[in-house]
Amino acid sequence: MSPEGNTRKTFLLGATGYIGGDALKAILDQFPEQEPNVSVLVRDEKKGEAIKAIYPNIRIVFGSLDDTEVLVGESAQADFVFNLAHADHVSATNAIIAGLRQRSAEDKTSFYVHCSGTGILLYDDMQTKTYGVASSKIYNDWDGVSEMTSYPDAAPHRNVDKLVLGAGEDTHIKTAVVCPPVIYGIGRGPVNQRSLQIPLLIENFIKRGKAFQIAEGKAYWNNVHIHDLSDLFALFFQEALSGDKKEVWGTDSYYFAENGEAPWGDISAKTAEVMHSKGLIKDTDIEKLSPQDAAKIFPHAPLVWGQNSRSSAIRGRKLLGWAPKQRSLEEELPIAVDYEVERQKSN
Ligand SMILES: NC(=O)c1ccc[n+]([C@@H]2O[C@H](COP(=O)([O-])OP(=O)(O)OC[C@H]3O[C@@H](n4cnc5c(N)ncnc54)[C@H](OP(=O)(O)O)[C@@H]3O)[C@@H](O)[C@H]2O)c1
Repeated sequence: MSPEGNTRKTFLLGATGYIGGDALKAILDQFPEQEPNVSVLVRDEKKGEAIKAIYPNIRIVFGSLDDTEVLVGESAQADFVFNLAHADHVSATNAIIAGLRQRSAEDKTSFYVHCSGTGILLYDDMQTKTYGVASSKIYNDWDGVSEMTSYPDAAPHRNVDKLVLGAGEDTHIKTAVVCPPVIYGIGRGPVNQRSLQIPLLIENFIKRGKAFQIAEGKAYWNNVHIHDLSDLFALFFQEALSGDKKEVWGTDSYYFAENGEAPWGDISAKTAEVMHSKGLIKDTDIEKLSPQDAAKIFPHAPLVWGQNSRSSAIRGRKLLGWAPKQRSLEEELPIAVDYEVERQKSN
């Protein structure tokens, strides 16, 4: 039985975050009539007020990802669950699935979209401790899903991806795992509008007064603009509302979400040019950092700036008509640099 009419309820986790806040905007811009049917998990009263200021009809559920009872109860009432809060939270994932199984026992269909990440593809380089070297291996989400689903649990995000996709064995639980790569662009959410890898790179170029890369800088990651990613989540929402394309969901429903790629050395060089032209660093020289020195910047730096995560996003384009249209990462860099400069001024 598909969810019907105005009784369709959505439970979204991560509304105060970068991904979740932007996705919420994309969904409610397209389906404003759904606002009273949306509940969001929030753990901070002030942040709840920020959401209410924009979406007065939304229902705020106060709680954290560790509040199992809250998550089970909300998921048991929700036709659609979007977990855009945390790619790796095992107990929250189990709680959502427990709630959806309660619905299933009552013969009710649920749609469950989980935001993971292409960190899983780092596993090959993690095993060989390779940094700054290009890999020719490009994973794809169309006829190559079994490669991701056969990764061991030790691969980043895999343990939770497995729980989510496994829940899809229940025919009443329609699952999809979305794996974004580097996300760039300023978010449009009510609270956090800042991503991770690009902002942190710029922040640390400013701190050190010079640009850097890890080793030879040849490791590749894909990238996607946050607005394009949110369009993909809105397409899932639209699809769940109509509920007619069975092939969108299921135990193999693994969606990459990229729209381009670049080696980190190129990203560092282009960022350095932009920053030098704005007088933020004295030259465009690139320091080559060892993984050990990069880890002093932050522990995951060697992985997220120094190892390969190469994917080809076919499934969303084929099954949902996803068509990214935002500016490229290179075009976005001057905006990203200005954003970090302003952010530093206001901190
Ligand atoms: N940004 C990227 O480039 C990227 C790419 C791929 C995958 N991902 C993954 O996607 C997920 C979301 O990323 P993001 O960039 O949107 O992160 P973010 O801006 O930090 O947002 C995280 C969201 O989850 C909420 N949250 C986290 N822990 C919580 C807890 N224990 N209880 C209640 N709420 C909690 C946060 O609430 P508060 O506001 O209260 O903190 C916030 O709403 C992460 O797992 C990240 O690894 C991110």
